[in-house]
Amino acid sequence: MRDALFKTRITEMLGIRHPILCGGMGPRVSEAEYVAAVVNAGGMGFIVAAGFPDPDEFREQLRRCRQLTAGKGFGVNLYISRQAGGVERLKQQLAIVAEEGVLCVETAGASPEAVLPVLRDAGIKVLHKVPAVRYAHTAARLGVDAVIVVGNDCGGHPGIYGIGSMVQAARAPEEIALPIVIGGGIGSGRQLAATLAMGADAVLMGSRMLVSRELQIHPDYKAQVVRGDGSESIIVKTGLRDHHRVLNNDSAKAVAALDAAGASDFELYRPHVGGALATQAYASGDSALGMLDYGPAVVFADAVKPVEAIFDEMLDDARQALQRLGQLSGQA
Ligand SMILES: Cc1cc2nc3c(=O)[nH]c(=O)nc-3n(C[C@H](O)[C@H](O)[C@H](O)COP(=O)(O)O)c2cc1C
Repeated sequence: MRDALFKTRITEMLGIRHPILCGGMGPRVSEAEYVAAVVNAGGMGFIVAAGFPDPDEFREQLRRCRQLTAGKGFGVNLYISRQAGGVERLKQQLAIVAEEGVLCVETAGASPEAVLPVLRDAGIKVLHKVPAVRYAHTAARLGVDAVIVVGNDCGGHPGIYGIGSMVQAARAPEEIALPIVIGGGIGSGRQLAATLAMGADAVLMGSRMLVSRELQIHPDYKAQVVRGDGSESIIVKTGLRDHHRVLNNDSAKAVAALDAAGASDFELYRPHVGGALATQAYASGDSALGMLDYGPAVVFADAVKPVEAIFDEMLDDARQALQRLGQLSGQA
């Protein structure tokens, strides 16, 4: 593992060596083995609670992660549904998160307001993920510990405004006083150095990590990611105003056709967007069907490697970027 290169408000808050967070990947993509590998490599990872509706299985995942990290802190991703009863359904998982001594939570989706009291009482740090700086103000007012802002390049949900990560990274620190994490299209150390230079405290990655050896997805899918250059990524579900950046497979093409036809009835989308299709694709390696979150940062995923090797490369690259800046500014 490389020595610490940067000390930021996020490395201090989470007690991690490197300002590198790996966002939750569901369904059942970022499981205990992967999250522990991220933590053991000096970053922070998040187990996606939604992947474990069975409470015993969820608790078992958390315990396994604690065992694999030898007690180091790790995170959980909580999706807060906008549907009626969404927070109610989370209650049991929240209790388990609190009981099992989770260090931090990445919240995403709707406002984290309803879950904050439980998490705060348990001393758990809350990092709320938003797809535009404008939403970060609300989260900051509610009292989260940090905000994660993802740009339009992100795998998953980039929001409806289509603002790129470069703009978000430069703007967020001007508007938000809290520690800031920037994600979306990041997969190199040059981007890490640039993001910190713009005022952020850490980066968040998803797509680039799809080739992590510790990730429990089929090797054929990882091989496909290695071959990808990012042009296979497409934003769909625009008709539902639930923009989703995914692999442009058969399901995505069917959904894009619905979008283009002006469809806005979820029942038309349902056969293509169910989570079971994605679970099946990750398990079998056949990626034709399902909404498979996938962003252009796959271009940096050049081989299947352990998480620590990916981090090492990023840190070496970041160091070179700092040297280059030093040379350009006459300081080296
Ligand atoms: C395969 C995959 C699955 C994801 N699943 C989730 C999820 O369940 N919940 C969530 O909040 N974000 C999810 N994300 C988004 C990531 O946590 C992160 O915000 C995003 O990947 C960052 O952008 P990048 O892909 O350009 O690195 C997923 C991303 C990927 C690539």
